[in-house]
Amino acid sequence: MYKKIFIKTFGCQMNEYDSNRIAGLAKEAGYLKTDNFNDIDCYILNTCHIREKATEKVYHDIGRLKKNYKNRKKPIVLVAGCVAQAENSEMLEREPYIDAVIGPQSYQGLPKILLEFEKRKEKLNFTNFDVIEKFDKLNAVLNSDSKISSFITIQEGCDKFCNFCVVPYTRGPEFSRSPTEIINEAKQIVFNGVKEITLLGQNVNAYSYNDKGLKYNLSNLIMELESLQKLKRIRYTTSHPKDMTTDLINCYKKTTKLVPFIHLPVQSGSNKILKNMNRKHTREEYISTIKNLIKVRPDIKFSSDFIVGYPGEIEKDFNDTINLVKEVNFINSYSFIYNSRPGTPSSNLEGVEKKIQKERLLILQNLLEDIQIKENKNQVGKTKEVLIENKAKNKKNYFGRIENSTPVIISKADDQDLGKIINVKINSYNRNTLFGSKENIEKEVAA
Ligand code: SAM
Ligand code: SF4
Ligand code: F3S
Repeated sequence: MYKKIFIKTFGCQMNEYDSNRIAGLAKEAGYLKTDNFNDIDCYILNTCHIREKATEKVYHDIGRLKKNYKNRKKPIVLVAGCVAQAENSEMLEREPYIDAVIGPQSYQGLPKILLEFEKRKEKLNFTNFDVIEKFDKLNAVLNSDSKISSFITIQEGCDKFCNFCVVPYTRGPEFSRSPTEIINEAKQIVFNGVKEITLLGQNVNAYSYNDKGLKYNLSNLIMELESLQKLKRIRYTTSHPKDMTTDLINCYKKTTKLVPFIHLPVQSGSNKILKNMNRKHTREEYISTIKNLIKVRPDIKFSSDFIVGYPGEIEKDFNDTINLVKEVNFINSYSFIYNSRPGTPSSNLEGVEKKIQKERLLILQNLLEDIQIKENKNQVGKTKEVLIENKAKNKKNYFGRIENSTPVIISKADDQDLGKIINVKINSYNRNTLFGSKENIEKEVAA
């Protein structure tokens, strides 16, 4: 008889990938994933530490679980991910309802942890950085993902140490997986029915493997994945501007499956702030990369992450960011007010006044929104290639994305179109979404 596990995920796409692999590992210990929170034997909270109050959010979530199971048998409660790594055994002390903390590089031990826990009932702490052991174990467990658009982690960790960011401390140093393992996993999920793969890494374009006679970087890995016949699209995220090498830029000339869209976080348009952030690139270097990409792939589009109100940011620095946004024309982006994260070098610096931070965020977000709306409006009347991912919530229409990732709601399609790239005539738009109807000629990407 199978036991039931409920997995809740906060944070980035890598956490989503990890949660999917955690579900696969839990099966080894006899646990099957459930969506019914009210009837479970094990609860896993896969956490993110990037934002303010991340830790409190975890305690609140566990509090709700505790209430729900007040007069019933307690499920095994595991906290995984970046908060587990950062807070470590403090969590076990503060909230006795938590049975174990498991860092992002230690979850390969999950089957053993679950079985041991059922027997011994001692609190457990697994927060070592053992990324080699992790991927050795994961390679032995088939990735059962079969969503049309799925992820594969190819690189983990960060050596960049931006002064505001917790990731180098929670995910550890940069590590690149073996290309053989990645290609095998890609073959497996394509066999399962996946049509679009997003290659993941905290600094995905720092991917570099040189061992056992194999020498790979991101560009030749992409070219190798292109040969998987049934795979239709390749994406990668998140890239660091410093690692946009010439070979990766030139890859856009040769590729038929890599989408002409790149998320390339810049954080700020001011050289002074970039230096204070320890970003390792200047505004001019960033713009030059953008221009080089456009040269080889004129239809390429960009998105970015921005931090507003970093310590020391004055009006002129903020205006530099605004001008950069206008110059590059980012079609969608994420923008955040700087928040001080414990243990990071900038955590002791005096911040910009909250009111000013909020005002600047609003100005930036309005500008980003204007550009996004203009871009979406521009698509009306055009025929776009859309990869159909699933049925829309209303069950009548379908959901897919154009190459640059913008979601599209499609009418006049049917179940036969799932997993196919079809031509869609765009009829209308709102800020985030395009709306269109299927055209009759189907486009199948050449192998
Ligand atoms: N590695 C990626 C890069 O270099 O851009 C991004 C990783 S981070 C998980 C995602 C985004 O969170 C960052 O690009 C940054 O904009 C934001 N972020 C990280 N730390 C932050 C902080 N202390 N305050 C506000 N935003 C932060
Ligand atoms: Fe964080 Fe900077 Fe590393 Fe990105 S490059 S994960 S922002 S330290
Ligand atoms: Fe969050 Fe960790 Fe990802 S801090 S953004 S879950 S790497």
